[in-house]
Amino acid sequence: MSSNQLDKKSEAWSALFSEPMSELVKRYTASVFFDKRLWQADIQGSLAHAEMLAAQGIIGASDLADIQRGMAQITSEIEAGTFQWQLDLEDVHLNIEARLTQLVGDAGKRLHTGRSRNDQVATDVRLWLRGETDLIIGLLTDLQRALVEVAERNVEVILPGFTHLQVAQPVSFAHHLLAYVEMFSRDAERFADVRRRTNRLPLGSAALAGTTYPLDRERVAKTLGMEGVCQNSLDGVSDRDFAIEFTAAASLCMVHISRLSEELILWMSQNFGFVKIADRFTTGSSIMPQKKNPDVPELARGKTGRVVGHLMGLITLMKGQPLAYNKDNQEDKEPLFDTVDTLKDTLRIFAEMVGGQVNPATGAKEGGITVNAAAMEAAANKGYATATDLADYLVKKGLPFRDAHETVAHAVKAATSHNCDLSELPLTVLQGFHPSIEKDVYGVLSLRGSLSARNTLGGTAPAQVREQIARHRNRLG
Ligand code: ARG
Repeated sequence: MSSNQLDKKSEAWSALFSEPMSELVKRYTASVFFDKRLWQADIQGSLAHAEMLAAQGIIGASDLADIQRGMAQITSEIEAGTFQWQLDLEDVHLNIEARLTQLVGDAGKRLHTGRSRNDQVATDVRLWLRGETDLIIGLLTDLQRALVEVAERNVEVILPGFTHLQVAQPVSFAHHLLAYVEMFSRDAERFADVRRRTNRLPLGSAALAGTTYPLDRERVAKTLGMEGVCQNSLDGVSDRDFAIEFTAAASLCMVHISRLSEELILWMSQNFGFVKIADRFTTGSSIMPQKKNPDVPELARGKTGRVVGHLMGLITLMKGQPLAYNKDNQEDKEPLFDTVDTLKDTLRIFAEMVGGQVNPATGAKEGGITVNAAAMEAAANKGYATATDLADYLVKKGLPFRDAHETVAHAVKAATSHNCDLSELPLTVLQGFHPSIEKDVYGVLSLRGSLSARNTLGGTAPAQVREQIARHRNRLG
């Protein structure tokens, strides 16, 4: 390199090139505008690498001190917003290295010993994603807590449970919410599992084949808090499985959010009227003054498509790549970054929309979901939600289930023609369907009776739901 400074990207490799890049190609190949967000991970990785180089006697102690001083300066410049990011220097790695060399001279030029941008970028993305994964697991805990809080207040509230979007059997509203808690708890497990495979160190793979310097890769892994070292240099530089797995976990999590969104949108409609969300999560219409539209759940449902799209993008990105690093891999960042941003915002907003926000004056949570228990119960009273209970009653009286099923079908037909519920049919009419029916049948036909009869593990009986709430509380801390 001719000068002390690395002002132009071309100077990062050699004098081999006889013509400069066109502005268009420069812009096309550069990544600094989006990968600069990796700066902290880049510096962290470089410092761990430099410490190891010094410990191994590959660079001197004074070089290490210079690198540390330079990186501290760069950190404050980036934090203060005074760092000059240059398109000419292509990416976050060359920008930081160039500034380091500008600040500390030769020590800066020694930092890249035994390293390539190929193992450097793979390390940076992993370090960055590890931190984001931890934040996301925390946000999933917040959302689960919010759902459990609302569940706790609604154990006895009865919702028509649907299959095929037709009234099926009554369920506790809390039970319904806890179904989502199960989904989000699996999401958290999945992210924790992906984190293990993300948290392995590619650095030391160098360009693709390893390096001639006596690196101590285990030491770097330990410094960076990584659980292990990538064991094959070709795989180390080219593996993006962790990014795909992460985006797959994020897609599934967004699918869960999207299903909850769809239910909130239905429940908020005039036809259902089951719940309300706080006004700040809705918008009005510019033409219809009566409207309050559920924009936040609708957008979350829409953004799910965007995240699933990123998964398709990333998996397709890898499909035709020969080993090892190819520039294609630079395209991993924008989908991954957008996935993280979208998921984090969505989880944050949902925790607040469901559970409300702490009012600093009172310490109480305000503004979460408002439940219209009467509307839910009225809806559960339509559609013969306790027909299965009547069949089960007859089975307990000795009828085979298939016969009981048929008998109840006749009873439902009669109730339909009288335009009333099963529980509104007089005892004599019910006895006409089967003589074993007695007065106690009305307990069975009630929504509350139906609920508390489903008292097996995982069932909707309030006693079971309370146990599940206690289990979640214990688990979520
Ligand atoms: N900006 C590049 C990326 O994100 C860094 C690695 C470049 N390596 C190379 N051999 N061109 O993938």
